[in-house]
Amino acid sequence: MRILVQPTPDVVASLAASLLVARVRHQPDLVLGLATGMTMVPVYRELVLQQQLAAVSFARVRLFALDEYRGALPADLGSCRGFLDRHVLRPLAVGPAHIQMLDGRASDPDAECARYEDAIRAAGGIDVQLLGIGGNGHIGFNEPGSPFDSRTRVARLSEQTRQANAAQWGGSPVAVPADALTLGIGTILEARTCLLLAFGFGKAAAVAAAVDGPRTAEVPASALQMHGDVVCLLDEAAASQLAR
Ligand code: F6R
Repeated sequence: MRILVQPTPDVVASLAASLLVARVRHQPDLVLGLATGMTMVPVYRELVLQQQLAAVSFARVRLFALDEYRGALPADLGSCRGFLDRHVLRPLAVGPAHIQMLDGRASDPDAECARYEDAIRAAGGIDVQLLGIGGNGHIGFNEPGSPFDSRTRVARLSEQTRQANAAQWGGSPVAVPADALTLGIGTILEARTCLLLAFGFGKAAAVAAAVDGPRTAEVPASALQMHGDVVCLLDEAAASQLAR
């Protein structure tokens, strides 16, 4: 894993955005996996800004959402679809043909997850996967205990995650859906490059466990140690418990 530490979240976000813009310049039909969550807000803000400044077209980029809450309506503020619409898709004017999302309301969620795996395969695989990390070490919605070879599937959210994401669902953890559809860890590990971002002291222990700790299903992000091309972009607070 390559670890890049910057003084503030804004500098990290700017660096992440410039890496992405450079990749799209090099490969205009890049397949990009998009995460949601607070970490991604400055990243997408910078991406939109830098894409305009650099005049790099994202018209051919193909996007895949990392996850979606089960039962979430597109209009729900907390839904991943709603988040991505607001922060990336509309600002970058991405057409519907270029974005794939998991349907949290699918009547057969297992079939929906299988469809998604097929869609990723048909696109030639994910070139760059953006990832945040949960305070408990989750990536996507792969909570502690998720097998490293897991595929896209329905996963149960931990109470800690529902608590952490409550603000996006009106403030109460009970309002946060109990389940989500998520790329599996095995699916994430097939992305050619993973960019893991984390900000703040609240993520420091999870980052240290993922980077320096043993590879264990109890820390889903530690699976990234097995991947040949992972870049961890951290602010100083998130890097504060690293061994190096
Ligand atoms: C979001 C996702 C999650 C978040 C993680 C961190 O699509 O898959 O793994 O990346 O929960 O969330 P924030 O950035 O809100 O701290």
